[in-house]
Amino acid sequence: MKDHLIDLINEALKNIEKAASSDELNDIRVAFLGKKGSITSIMKEMKGLKPEERPAFGQMVNEAKTKVENALEEAKIRLEKDALELRLKSEVIDVTLPAKKLKTGHPHPCQIALDEVERIFMGMGYEVVEGPEVEWQEYNFTKLNIPEGHPARDEQDTFYITDQILLRSQTSPCQARVMERGKLPIRMISPGRVFRSDSIDATHSPSFNQIEGLVVDKHITMTDLKGTLTQFAKEMFGKDTVTRFRPHHFPFTEPSAEVDVSCFKCGGKGCRFCKNEGWIEILGCGMVHPNVLEMCGIDPEEYTGFAFGVGLERIAILKYEIDDMRLLYENDMRFLKQF
Ligand code: DAH
Repeated sequence: MKDHLIDLINEALKNIEKAASSDELNDIRVAFLGKKGSITSIMKEMKGLKPEERPAFGQMVNEAKTKVENALEEAKIRLEKDALELRLKSEVIDVTLPAKKLKTGHPHPCQIALDEVERIFMGMGYEVVEGPEVEWQEYNFTKLNIPEGHPARDEQDTFYITDQILLRSQTSPCQARVMERGKLPIRMISPGRVFRSDSIDATHSPSFNQIEGLVVDKHITMTDLKGTLTQFAKEMFGKDTVTRFRPHHFPFTEPSAEVDVSCFKCGGKGCRFCKNEGWIEILGCGMVHPNVLEMCGIDPEEYTGFAFGVGLERIAILKYEIDDMRLLYENDMRFLKQF
């Protein structure tokens, strides 16, 4: 029996030496040391031995097992080393090859324009505030002096969630939200997405972006409004830009105006870009209506303010001379990469 065990050990060691893969090593482990392996099975033959011979034989089997285990382990390390060397020899790295280009995204022209608008107004001490896109009709209309039944509600028809909740049709509700915070004075801009039930064409979209502006303090006058927006136009479109304030009507401001800038393409002479007008409309504005101040908890006898609303896409289109607004929504990298 002892001889049989020695034969088994030798056979195992020989096989291990010849093994060329870890699969083969595994087969050897199973064949000799597995549950039904030949070295394991030899233990069962102990029954045939005299009781006094058994402990010594048991020890021999255990030693045999350890020997084979160790040999298997060494062979495994040897195989791994060989494999690594082989790989290193076959994988030659050409360090002169050009690196793979990482494709990062690109800031959207609207984002670039918004960053610029925020930079200009933050430089004048304004804070940037965000409001919800899903809004109460009360904030979108009522508190802005547009009561139920007012025709301005039809002009800004939007998507209703319930009869009280809608997708905001303008960023102006942020005016009411900021005034209601009760902290005065106010100097804020509020950029964000707005919605209208419009179909898509070169100048319309059911969802676009606006930037609202609001200043409320003691002694704020139309002069402050004109000075601020003129300065904004110069910084945004170039220092030679001239502004023109045209009387207009918005329910939440009184008086109200629309602001045009002199065409920065032709300097005001008239060209294709400004449709031969020499002027390009950029925003709506006005002095905050006393009703609005009052509805938002501010005493109109003590405080006055001005507000304005700019279409972000409009600014981006003008600044970057984009002729179709739809390009801004298609996210085609060939287009976006130009800015
Ligand atoms: N909310 C207006 C619109 O969507 C734009 C606007 C006009 C905002 C005048 C203002 C403003 O704050 O004073 O047509």
